[in-house]
Amino acid sequence: MEKREKFSSRLGFILISAGCAVGLGNVWRFPYITGKYGGAAFVLIYLIFLVILGLPIMIMEFSVGRASQKSAARSFHVLEPKGTKWHIESYFAMAGNYLLMMFYTTVGGWMIAYVFKNISGEFTGLSPEEVGGVFNGMLAQPVYMTVWMVITVLLSFFICSLGLQNGVERITKIMMGFLFVILIILCIRSVTLDGAIEGLKFYLVPDFGKIAEYGIFEVVFAAMGQSFFTLSLGIGAMAIFGSYLSKERTLTGESISICCLDTLVAIMAGLVIFPACFAFGVDPGEGPGLVFVTLPNIFNQMAGGRIFGTLFFVFMSFAALSSIIAVFENIISFSRDLFGWERKKAVLVNLIAIILLSMPCVLGFNVFSSFAPLGAGTTIQDLEDFIVSNNLLPLGSLVYLLFCTSRYGWGWKNFIKEADTGKGVKFPKWARFYVSYILPFIVLFIFVMGYVQKFSR
Ligand code: PFF
Repeated sequence: MEKREKFSSRLGFILISAGCAVGLGNVWRFPYITGKYGGAAFVLIYLIFLVILGLPIMIMEFSVGRASQKSAARSFHVLEPKGTKWHIESYFAMAGNYLLMMFYTTVGGWMIAYVFKNISGEFTGLSPEEVGGVFNGMLAQPVYMTVWMVITVLLSFFICSLGLQNGVERITKIMMGFLFVILIILCIRSVTLDGAIEGLKFYLVPDFGKIAEYGIFEVVFAAMGQSFFTLSLGIGAMAIFGSYLSKERTLTGESISICCLDTLVAIMAGLVIFPACFAFGVDPGEGPGLVFVTLPNIFNQMAGGRIFGTLFFVFMSFAALSSIIAVFENIISFSRDLFGWERKKAVLVNLIAIILLSMPCVLGFNVFSSFAPLGAGTTIQDLEDFIVSNNLLPLGSLVYLLFCTSRYGWGWKNFIKEADTGKGVKFPKWARFYVSYILPFIVLFIFVMGYVQKFSR
């Protein structure tokens, strides 16, 4: 067995984990659900859940990874008490990573395709309907979408094939650096537009009326779901980076940094999108089409819009790619942990697998569009998203939570010892009661509510 790879620096670990967390959830999902649920009031609830729900579970995932020195494929086997069945979760965690990529790569492909559409000026001079037509036209072309999906997959696996330090760590660091620079440029552009102030008000001044309109349960549920998704929790996607980490720092401190970076990007993405929407008089509650239809229309009307449009989609692509690379790294490590394969072989086999597995999502928008698994108008992508976001993430998080707090699992003592090893912030002792007896019910509640909501309409 070869020696386990390690990160070359602390910054590398933080940026890769942040890169895994920062993704379409921050730059695509967060803005449109915030738009839908009325802006600032929703953001407030979301922030609360990041702290009381996301942060402790992230610390637990990292602890399991670092203590076991394995990916989610083997970590429960290593740490569970003899004779127990916690390792069943490993199959769900692996399935979760694959299922997530089965639709994420397609959206990543759209982002990269839009970079080129912007560079080539495809949107210039088009009416709003025609811009919408470009998006729908893309969805209707299976070959075109397959090509961009395959490019996304090849590029990301290529980076992983270079190794943890030389590939994943080095490239993600560069991408995250650019991502922040571009985000700052876009923020400045957006908040200085004429009429931006209305957008800032919508985004930053809470309007609890909107919450009453949708019902508090629905809004709280959406905020909880978003906090799992944005922090990549519940399927061991974060745990893997714990397994490459040295014992120099406590995991609570590192997790706080990662949560802050993730939140910063989400909040700033909102600062780009909402002022621009209000300045150009478009509805930010538009839903998933916000990024692909509404925003290109805005760039069309903006001076220098082609440059800002291109920058915007480069930014979106980096966010998507950093998460895809992180999850691919995880997937590669499954095969290595399970079968002892070398990195190159794991890359090759998984590359083919992921391309094939991504096809249903691509075809769901065209060839199989009559298949509406979750009701009229839904696609295969919605089904995959539902399985991951509403099931595997909350239930997986629950398993990590119980595993770390229950004496029938890995247990509190082992968890706290691992989490607190090193320099930095320690896990607060008073939180034991909360994470053991209250948090599991909150998570269970989210899970049940997700179903009630989905199927009560
Ligand atoms: N956190 C990523 C995002 O915000 O887009 C999505 C994600 C990645 C979720 C990895 C879950 C995961 F395991």
